[in-house]
Amino acid sequence: MTPESRAAEFDAADPLSRYRERFNLPEGVIYLDGNSLGALPKATPAAVQRVVEHEWGEGLIRSWNSAGWFEASGRVGAKIAPLIGAAPHEVIACDSTSINLFKLIAAALQMRPGRTVVLSEPGNFPTDLYMIAGLEVQGLAERRLVESERLEEALDEGVALLLLTHVHYKTGAMHDMAALTRAAHEAGALVLWDLSHTVGALPVDLNRAEADFAVGCGYKYLCGGPGAPAFAYVAERHHAGLAQPLTGWFGHAAPFAFSDDYAGAPGIERLLCGTAPVLGLAALEVGVELIAEIGVERLFGKSQALSEFFLECLMAHDVKLELVSPPRSDDRGSQLSFRHANAYEICQALIARGVIGDFRDPDVLRLGFAPAYLSFADMAVAARHLAEVLTSGEWQRPEFSLRAAVT
Ligand SMILES: Cc1ncc(COP(=O)(O)O)c(C=O)c1O
Repeated sequence: MTPESRAAEFDAADPLSRYRERFNLPEGVIYLDGNSLGALPKATPAAVQRVVEHEWGEGLIRSWNSAGWFEASGRVGAKIAPLIGAAPHEVIACDSTSINLFKLIAAALQMRPGRTVVLSEPGNFPTDLYMIAGLEVQGLAERRLVESERLEEALDEGVALLLLTHVHYKTGAMHDMAALTRAAHEAGALVLWDLSHTVGALPVDLNRAEADFAVGCGYKYLCGGPGAPAFAYVAERHHAGLAQPLTGWFGHAAPFAFSDDYAGAPGIERLLCGTAPVLGLAALEVGVELIAEIGVERLFGKSQALSEFFLECLMAHDVKLELVSPPRSDDRGSQLSFRHANAYEICQALIARGVIGDFRDPDVLRLGFAPAYLSFADMAVAARHLAEVLTSGEWQRPEFSLRAAVT
C-alpha cells in the first residue's frame, strides 16, 4: 500500500477531517507552519468586518459598553481557560507574550523577597530569556540558565522563579509540567510556563499541576491572526497579592474614576495595562472558539497520529534525516524537527513546491502539524516532496540560499 492510499483511509476514518473546511487554506499549499502563524478561520473576516463596520462604524465610542469591548480581554481569556486547565477568571487575553512575561516575572520576584534568581534553560525561546535580561538591567533579577536535565538540582534557596517553555519551540520537546512545578515549589520558588507551542494543540492542566503563572501566543495554534493578543494566567491564590509593574489605567480597579493614584483591579484584570486591542481580540475570539469546539484532547490525538504517519512516510521513501524532536509522540508537541547542514535551502526548496515549513537557526528544518486543519494526505504529499527535494539535490539551486529577513 502506498503512503497516499493509506492516507486516504486514515482521512476517511478521521472524525476531525470535517473541520478542515472551516479554515481558509490556499490551493496548492500544504501548510506546516501553523505552529508559527495559524491558518485563517473562514469565520474571521466576517467577525472582524462586523466589529469594524457595525460596532466601530455605527456604534462609535458607545461600543465600549454596548458591544462588550470592555469585557473582551476577560471574555476571550475565559474561553482560553478550559484549553489550559484554568478557571475562567484566571486567564486574560492581552498584550504580547513578551510583555506578559515581563509583568509576571516581575510579579514573581516581588512575591519572593530575598530571592533574585530566575532559572531557565539555555536555548529557551529568545524573548523569554531577553525579558529576564531586562529585569537584570533594572537590578531586580539574576538570570541562571541550566540544561534541562539539571534544572531540579539548580533549584536552590536563591531561586524566585522557574521560567520554562512547556513545548520547546525548536525541538518540540515537552517538559513534565507537574513534576517541575512540584520541584520548584518544594524549593520555595514559583513557576511560570510559556504555553506558546502548547495552547490549542495539546491539553495541559495548569490547575492540577498547581502552576503559578502562564503565558502564551494567540497567533499560533489558536489562529488569532498575525500579532494577535497573547494571554496570561495567574492562579487564583495569587490574585490578591499580585503586584505587576505595568500599572496602566486599564488594570485599575476603577479606570473611569480618573484618580491620581493607582489601585489595581482585584482579579486577573490587574494584568491589563493600556486600551484593549479590540480588532485583534475579535479575530482571536473566533480562533479560540473554533479550537475549543474541536477540543484539545482530540487535537492532540490527531497531532500524534499525523506526526507518526509523517515519519512512516519518510521511512517508506527511505529518507534518513536526523530527528531532533523526541521520537515518542507522548514526549513532544505538535511538530517534528530535523537537523541538516542545509536545512535552510531544503526549507526554501519545499516552499517553492508549496510545502510551507520553517527553518530555525542554525540547522533545523521545523515542520508543524496543526491538527485542526491538516490531513493525512497532506502528510503523504509533504513527505514525498521532502524525499524528492533531498534525492534530486534541487535544494542546491542558488535561489534557495538567499536569506530573507523573516523565514
Ligand atoms: C515560546 C515562545 N514564546 C514567545 C514567543 C513570541 O512572543 P511575542 O508574541 O511577544 O513575539 C514565541 C514566538 O514564536 C515563542 O515561540
